Amino acid sequence: VVRSVRGSLIKTVYYYDVLDSTNNKARELPENSLVIAEEQIMGKGRLGRKWFSKKGGLYFSIALKPEMNLEDIPKLTLTSGVAVARALEEYQARLKWPNDVLINGKKVCGILSEIVGEIENFKVIVGIGINVENAVPDYATNLKNLNSEVNRAEILKDVIEQFTKYYKMLLSREWNKIRFEWLELSDTIGKFVEVKAGNRTYRGKAIDMDYDGGLIVETEEGTEKVFSGDCFYI
Ligand code: BTN
Repeated sequence: VVRSVRGSLIKTVYYYDVLDSTNNKARELPENSLVIAEEQIMGKGRLGRKWFSKKGGLYFSIALKPEMNLEDIPKLTLTSGVAVARALEEYQARLKWPNDVLINGKKVCGILSEIVGEIENFKVIVGIGINVENAVPDYATNLKNLNSEVNRAEILKDVIEQFTKYYKMLLSREWNKIRFEWLELSDTIGKFVEVKAGNRTYRGKAIDMDYDGGLIVETEEGTEKVFSGDCFYI
């Protein structure tokens, strides 16, 4: 356990060799804690999927208690994507809606936010997994492929620095500024997508990310707004 990282949002760092999931551990910890694990046994992905978390990757979660309305939490997830993309700027990282980080069109990072506690008094766990030196499947990439000198501690430091900056912006009601940065970094806008959300599938051109974080898709039936789901390029 390391305490007080100067200037950073993080008050305490909890470091583990192995955990089931850093998101699960972060649930038990006070706000502004950072949990890191070298390896996860039950790493969690979005939509109930598993996140393979072998040694060599960067797996961490931040416990937060944002003064925000519950319905604004998707903005926090999108903001986290902007922070990671900025930290990986030298790799020309781009954002795929809702919050995958891509390099050369391949996934390098996934983000899973979870809301815990009661509606009136909730915490948010932002979990970030970055492929660094871990082996990855074909549709994904890792940083080592692009830079043999990559250093996980430095990447983590850069992400926390950017996260601190963008989180403060979000809490100071600067979401629209962040939204424009998201759009600038977007890999999705202008592409033809298929988004599966609940039992509906939307197909068409992604034309904007709205003020509320929804993806605007121009379909044959008209313009639709999608709030979450699985997005594929077609
Ligand atoms: C996704 O793209 O499906 C999201 C993946 C999120 C993975 C990270 S790794 C650290 C944190 N702990 C977890 O169990 N999941 C997130």
